[in-house]
Amino acid sequence: MELSVIVPTYNERDNIVTLLERVESSLKGRRFELIVVDDNSPDGTADVAYKASERYGNVKVIRRPAKLGLGSAVTEGARVAKANVLAVMDADLQHPPELLPKMLDKINEGFDIVVASRYIRGGGIEGWGLWRRLVSRVAIALAKLALPRVRGFKDSMSGFFMFKRGVIDGVELKPKGFKVLLEILVKGKWNAATELPYMFKPRLKGKSKLNTKEVYSYIKYLLELSSYRPIKFAAVGASGIVVNEGLLHLLIHFIPLQVAGALAIETSVLSNFILNNYWTFKDRKEGGILSKCLRYHGAVAIGALVNYVVLLSLVAFLGMHYLIANLIGIFLGFLANYSVSELFVWRS
Ligand code: GDD
Ligand code: MN
Repeated sequence: MELSVIVPTYNERDNIVTLLERVESSLKGRRFELIVVDDNSPDGTADVAYKASERYGNVKVIRRPAKLGLGSAVTEGARVAKANVLAVMDADLQHPPELLPKMLDKINEGFDIVVASRYIRGGGIEGWGLWRRLVSRVAIALAKLALPRVRGFKDSMSGFFMFKRGVIDGVELKPKGFKVLLEILVKGKWNAATELPYMFKPRLKGKSKLNTKEVYSYIKYLLELSSYRPIKFAAVGASGIVVNEGLLHLLIHFIPLQVAGALAIETSVLSNFILNNYWTFKDRKEGGILSKCLRYHGAVAIGALVNYVVLLSLVAFLGMHYLIANLIGIFLGFLANYSVSELFVWRS
């Protein structure tokens, strides 16, 4: 057996037969199996699939007791799959089965993962409104920011991909919701990956199951996969506010505002750096601490400068209390810093 194609289904009664036919004809002459993993669809998808499978010797249908989700449907399919190469695709024919042989060729050329991509030259999307396009782009951009291992991919949200079994062997996958590929890219064992273009077509029949619950679960998922880094980063920032304000409050009794403000800001920059280095980004071991500390200073320089100028100006020109002026300065300076740190200081 060369290839196992895993197709998760939920209410795809009107699509499944066409899908089977097109997969069968695209992969003619190759030894493969098709595994339909149905979550007891109320529309009777599983029964239709069983019936259609009688015509082919290589179609397996798994009927699960309830709607357990797309992610676990894929891992369940992978568990029973017999081939050493696995493909995942949707049942609604938004993914052209005709791409499967080309993907398999890439695997045989030595790639561990082949992603069918809408966002490389030759690929595209038909029939999506502005909103759905935007959601897709933002989701990919967030994934790139939070997960270094997916940065090289133009379409890490793809639901259409192929990989060698070894990629997930011994890897514990717990994909929630739709983002199966993302989890495989992050946790899987792979070296070479590539993307092949395809045109994402409108659904043949029925409706999409992507809803706001999926969007919410995606954000949670990204946070989990990124070890809650953005949240830790925010917590460190909050601690920096306390250091900055506390020190300013203390020093103002002894030295002029110009010096006290600068010292308070620099101390908070240093304490933020230490916490981020040993906590937020503790798994990023590349590079020496001194060079990171320098880069971090470069990264927050604009924010620190904004903080300082706002503090002095609000006190001098508006007669504002120094602690309130400083807080406003911190807030304005903080805005720019997170993205700069992600992209320049702890880049990997
Ligand atoms: N077993 C099972 N259980 N299958 C499910 C479930 C579930 O809970 N939810 C959805 N599916 C199946 C659908 O029947 C379909 O075959 C496939 O998973 C994709 O679901 P769609 O509802 O068609 O998703 P989509 O078209 O909105 O999203 C597609 O594109 C996204 C990228 O834009 C999918 O491929 C996503 O994985 C992909 O991220
Ligand atoms: Mn779809």
